[in-house]
Amino acid sequence: MPSSITLNARISAIGSYVPSRILNNTDLQAMVDTNDEWIVQRTGIHERRIATEDEFTSHLCIRAVEDMLAHYPVQLEDVELIIVATHTPDLPFPSTACLIQDHFGIPATGAYDLNATCAGFAYALHTASALISAGVHRKVLVIGGDTLSKITDYSDRSTCILFGDGAGAVLLESEEEHPAFLAHYLSTDGSGGKHVYRTGLASSLHGNPLEGQGKLVQNGREVYRYAVTTVPQGIEKLLAKTAMGVKDIAWFIPHSANLRIIESICEKSGIPFEQALYSLEYYGNTSAASIPLALDMGVKEGKVKAGDTLLLYGFGGGLTQAGLIVRWG
Ligand code: UT7
Repeated sequence: MPSSITLNARISAIGSYVPSRILNNTDLQAMVDTNDEWIVQRTGIHERRIATEDEFTSHLCIRAVEDMLAHYPVQLEDVELIIVATHTPDLPFPSTACLIQDHFGIPATGAYDLNATCAGFAYALHTASALISAGVHRKVLVIGGDTLSKITDYSDRSTCILFGDGAGAVLLESEEEHPAFLAHYLSTDGSGGKHVYRTGLASSLHGNPLEGQGKLVQNGREVYRYAVTTVPQGIEKLLAKTAMGVKDIAWFIPHSANLRIIESICEKSGIPFEQALYSLEYYGNTSAASIPLALDMGVKEGKVKAGDTLLLYGFGGGLTQAGLIVRWG
């Protein structure tokens, strides 16, 4: 490849997968003191998909890649890097990405997991598109997958109503003509890490009795406040990196945390709510999978069309967030 050619990245394929087992609001009513009306009013969620006991994040990711291969004429043999965004890997190591490499027999690729919780998919796109644009790699497989059900405390009504399992995969390829990744924005507030975390070896730092149980603990109000105050500011900064305004965005695809959060961000950012795509109504909050699930639904339903400008925005534990402006197709 001549060094004078500027490489850019574009998304050439997408696929997704959710497990078949459904956990609806009536099921939750039998488990904790809650009800369908409260859950729908406060979150917009009706159902979530839950992995079986022997189904893990890697299995969902593999099915998402298979779905991608079934819908697009792409091949994996020359993938140079696999990045899996997840904070619920099957094992601390080997990484989920290594399991994906082995399953598909991809011969000459790097592979690693990236943990930026619910912002993970946006972080992985940020990384992959930058590596391609820098000429380091020509083809990168990016997957966002999580099995939140494995770490959810089903006796805590303020969290168990939110989470579900799923995965979404995209292929990023080099593109010499038209750049598709138009702007990136990252931001982190580590001081808010105590508001949503998974208990583990160091959870006594927060004085939590769930120490060592590996469960998700959340102060929902604080995370809600973080999202609705800082994400609109981040969107403004992201747009300021381009000559674009909100009117140029065809589809807004935020992390599907809670419908009320999405409504509030839309209102504060001047984005018409009808232009938001989300996956939470029937899949719940699927963390790193929520953005590719929503995007794939939009593509399969024929809403997202070639040439559309997308605003993808992830936010979550860390606290952390990432936004990208991407041209589709
Ligand atoms: O993925 C990124 C990370 N996570 C998020 O983005 C989550 C962000 N936060 C949220 O989505 C919301 O804060 C929740 C859905 C978690 C909670 O909604 P809220 O409107 O912020 O409720 P709240 O925590 O202010 O609680 C209001 C009341 C409380 O009762 P009192 O103290 O007013 O008597 C709660 O105990 O609602 C009660 N409550 C429930 N009632 C019925 C909390 N959970 C439930 C429930 N069913 N499941």
